[in-house]
Amino acid sequence: MPGPDDALRARARSFGGVAAGYAALRPTYPADAVAFLVGRDRPLDVLDVGAGTGLLTAVVLDLGHRARAVDPSPEMLAQLGARLPGVGTAVGSAESLPAGDGSVDAVVAGQAAHWFDPAPAAREIRRVLRPGGVLGLIWNTRDDRVPWVAALEELLADESRGHEADQRVVDRLAEELGADVAVLESQVVQRVPPEDVVGGIATRSYVAVMDDARREAFLAGIRQLLADHPGTRGRPVLDLPHRTHAYRLTPR
Ligand SMILES: C[S@@+](CC[C@H](N)C(=O)[O-])C[C@H]1O[C@@H](n2cnc3c(N)ncnc32)[C@H](O)[C@@H]1O
Repeated sequence: MPGPDDALRARARSFGGVAAGYAALRPTYPADAVAFLVGRDRPLDVLDVGAGTGLLTAVVLDLGHRARAVDPSPEMLAQLGARLPGVGTAVGSAESLPAGDGSVDAVVAGQAAHWFDPAPAAREIRRVLRPGGVLGLIWNTRDDRVPWVAALEELLADESRGHEADQRVVDRLAEELGADVAVLESQVVQRVPPEDVVGGIATRSYVAVMDDARREAFLAGIRQLLADHPGTRGRPVLDLPHRTHAYRLTPR
């Protein structure tokens, strides 16, 4: 009988099926938060793990760094390759990194470290980092201080992962790495038509693994909310706010 681990693995693998919509529908990361992780004064060798379609990789490159991308999903990496043709990609996982010992200045992960198995991932990250290197973790979470976003979160509450869960992942990886942690909070707003809010939620793993009937019903509920809520009703374009939390882990 499939157990909770199988369900989790199925969710981790689900990204390939939504790869095409992913880059267009998910928010990017604010430059100040990514610069907090990897700096902007000196070009570094950065390994983006769980790089997906390259949303974080693109910001790392914009800050002047050299980046390579790793992901278990070839479909996600194909999207990344199309958007960022100069970036080297490799199929792999945090627990088995396709990179040499002491070969990078920074490992980063955007919206991905909650998929890692902390102990083997920390061993691998330590192996590939140069002395003085850092691990940068970053997540966007919808900002439920805005009333219509709070109503949306209520609909998603049973399914989605909150910021507290990310904090637990950071604590666990910091413990495994014996790392000091520095934190920065920033924000990013996505200006999108309502249907793209629905589409972005459809790229979440908990939605991607639903059967077709359940997914349709779930997404119809979100469409209904956006059509009815006073904060969104009749608006052709919505400002969907996100809080960004960036964590810089420096192994001692
Ligand atoms: C929510 S997406 C984030 C993609 C990208 N970093 C971004 O910011 O848009 C999570 C990614 O983690 C990848 N992933 C899942 N399990 C992983 C693991 N154990 N090691 C590395 N990446 C993993 C998935 O294939 C997916 O591309």
